[in-house]
This record gives sequence, C-alpha cells and structure tokens, in this order.
Amino acid sequence: MNDATPDRAQLRGTATAGTKGPYALYEERVAAGTLRRDPDQERVARRLDRLWSELSVWHPEKAGPPVPKRKGLWGFVSEKLPELFEKGGAKDQEPPRGVYIVGRVGRGKTMLMDLFFSCAPMAKKQRIHFLTFMQEVHQRIRALKQANPGISDPIPPLAQTIAQDANLLCFDEFQINDIADAMILGRLFEALFAAKVVIVATSNTVPGDLFQNRPGADAFKPFIAIIQRHLDTEELDSETDYRRGREQDDATWIVPADETARRRLDNIVARYGQGHTPQAVTLEFSGRSLPIPHAEGPVARFDFTSLCSRPLGPNDFLAIAHRFPVIVIDDIPELGPDDANVARRFITFIDALYDNGNLLFVSADARPDDLFPAGEGADAFARTASRLMEMSSESWLARAHAPGGCLSRP
Ligand SMILES: Nc1ncnc2c1ncn2[C@@H]1O[C@H](COP(=O)(O)OP(=O)(O)OP(=O)(O)O)[C@@H](O)[C@H]1O
Ligand SMILES: [Mg+2]
Repeated sequence: MNDATPDRAQLRGTATAGTKGPYALYEERVAAGTLRRDPDQERVARRLDRLWSELSVWHPEKAGPPVPKRKGLWGFVSEKLPELFEKGGAKDQEPPRGVYIVGRVGRGKTMLMDLFFSCAPMAKKQRIHFLTFMQEVHQRIRALKQANPGISDPIPPLAQTIAQDANLLCFDEFQINDIADAMILGRLFEALFAAKVVIVATSNTVPGDLFQNRPGADAFKPFIAIIQRHLDTEELDSETDYRRGREQDDATWIVPADETARRRLDNIVARYGQGHTPQAVTLEFSGRSLPIPHAEGPVARFDFTSLCSRPLGPNDFLAIAHRFPVIVIDDIPELGPDDANVARRFITFIDALYDNGNLLFVSADARPDDLFPAGEGADAFARTASRLMEMSSESWLARAHAPGGCLSRP
C-alpha cells in the first residue's frame, strides 16, 4: 500500500464475540433515535443476525479433541469416534452461508454490514473496501512472484495467507471493473471458500449482473455461480435514500464554474492550506510515480479535465485520497455520452474519497444530479451523485474535523 493511515476502508478484528447480535444493535440505535426504523433494513438485520448466531457456534480452528483408545466394545466405539466426529463435527462442517447485500444507493447496506462486523464473533476478521482489497491482491501476487521466481500459480498461497488472517471477510462495495481482476477473482474466491472463509459483501449490483456486457463477460460466469453457491443475496431496497435531505447549501459544490467560483475555491485552498506554498509533488507507491501538479500542505487542487482524462486507476485515486485530506477540483463540465471514460474515472475517484472521508470542494457547471444525465454508466453515476450530496452535508464536514476524521489523521 501507499503511505496511507488506517481508515474505515480497512479494519482488522482480533476481539471475539460481542454478546449482542446485529439485530439487537440495530434495535438499540432505533430506540436511541440515531436510526429510523425501516422494515427492509430490519429484514436484512435479521438475516445478518442468523449468520451471527451460526458463527457463534462455528469454530473453524477447533477440530475437536483426540479421543483415547480403549479395548473392548468401548474401545471399538472410541476408535471410531474421531471418524464419527469428523463426519458430523467441526472439522468437516461446512461454514455458514455468507450474505451479499445489494440495493440502490444510500439504503443502509454499509451501515448494516458495519453493525454486523462490529459484533461478529470471530477471532480473526477483516472489513475492507473492495478496491483496497484488489489493490492488496495485486501487490501480494507481485511480491509472491518476486520471492519465488519459478512459481507457476500464486493464487493458492495467496488464498492461504488471506485465510490465515481472517475467517470472515466483509467487503464494502463489491464490484468488478477490470478483466484482470475478473480473471483472478474466480479462482481466488474458490480457494477462499475451500479454506472455509465466510464472506459478507455490499454491492449495487446483483451477482448475476457483475461484469456483464463487457468483453470477457462469459469467462466470468463461473465466478458468478461460485458467489451464488456460497452467499445468499439479500436485497435492500427501502423507499428512502438516507443520504438525501441532509445536504447543506452548495458551499462545497459551487455552480457555475465561473470566476467567482474560482475565487471562492482560492479562499478555501488558502484556509485549508495552512500557510504552505503551492508546489508540485510526486506520490510514490507500488513502484509508480504519480505527479500532483498543485499541492498545498493537506490540499491537492486539480483541474477536472486534466485529472480525469489521464489514464488513472483505483490505486492512483486511493493514493491521492490517503495523502491529501482536502481535494479541490476546478471546472467540472457537464458530461455527455462521449465522456463515459472520464465519468468512470470520476466515479472511482469519488468512491475513494468517500470511503476515506475526504473533504471535497469543486466548481462545476451542474449540480451532482444533473452532471452526467445520459451515457454509458449514467446509472452508476446516480450513486456518485448521492455520495456527492452527502459529502456536501454539514455532518460530513463535522466528521472530517472531528477526532479520527481525515483532517486529524497524521
Ligand atoms: N435507518 C436509518 N436511519 C438514519 N440514517 C440511516 C439509516 N440507514 C442508513 N442511514 C445513514 O444513511 C447514510 C447512507 O447509508 P449507507 O452508507 O449504509 O448506504 P449504502 O446502501 O451503503 O449506500 P451506497 O450504495 O452508496 O454505498 C449513512 O450515513 C447511514 O448512516
Ligand atoms: Mg455503501
């Protein structure tokens, strides 16, 4: 990874069972008024509660005690006992089915998964944003190949190390954007399931639609079948987008992108730049050098077109998000059907910023909802628009400034 500090994108757990399951925790928050009661969320919380109960009695690391041998009938039974035990016992026991929570934006998928993760009764568990997970997968494959030049297949040892670190993996925002990822994932997941790893995921896409209508989609179909075999899909499609209605004014999203907007952004950069002089810096990570033309202390400022027309990928955007808590983007134009690639990169960038809790200030020719009305990926952009609204809210700013928020991290 880059020089990132640990964040919500990645949590490792070492503590065991909370005594309350996700449903009880959900009810507590509803009673306390921090969550609004939502029947669809309750249903998913109950499903996660069932998994929580199943995991409470499932001990992958304990295969049962050895049974001493004795003579006579008891001796025969006790000799057979280990076998009997293994047949119905923990060693051969199938792990419980995981859960794949799918639904539209802002429905509370991540919130529910995080509730579940917080109380999941596992000694070894990991909650990770899926883009960060894939970044680590590629890094570990490179490292394995470097350390063992003759290695023909790095996937089995990779799966083994992942499974040693976590019996439970919680993936936020499961998505497949890349043929290289698509090819690795089928075999990796098969090996993880064989190692009895339980997976919970959130996604905006049902498993059957992952990576469809793309070149190579057919080769990806077996992976979809693997997911469906090991995970129950739970749709979370409540009426409410809980991100809406919390937006402040447009102080962080300035329309239109004119001279006044530029001056307002100048002031914002000066305020957050903490007296640093503007300079060009280069981020070094994973053997890559990424030039950032305008940095001022914790702020990076970009011109939209030069940022999103460069062939940058998730790793680059994650590196920027982790290095600069405050991002300023000038001159976002309205995007049309010809801008699908640019829009896709912008979506990836916003995902990285959102997950890391960054502050974002922009000047744009349209409000988030109207920025990319038509074209390939315009549907996916609806989620980005919802996120951008939340990132303009007062509570978002408050969180960034609060202890542990992105501005207070070293
Ligand atoms: N029942 C609820 N009452 C109040 N706030 C809620 C409720 N459910 C979710 N929220 C809040 O709404 C916001 C959006 O929820 P969350 O991030 O879990 O949505 P999501 O389904 O994961 O969306 P996306 O698909 O964009 O990732 C969060 O800040 C969350 O805490
Ligand atoms: Mg989410």
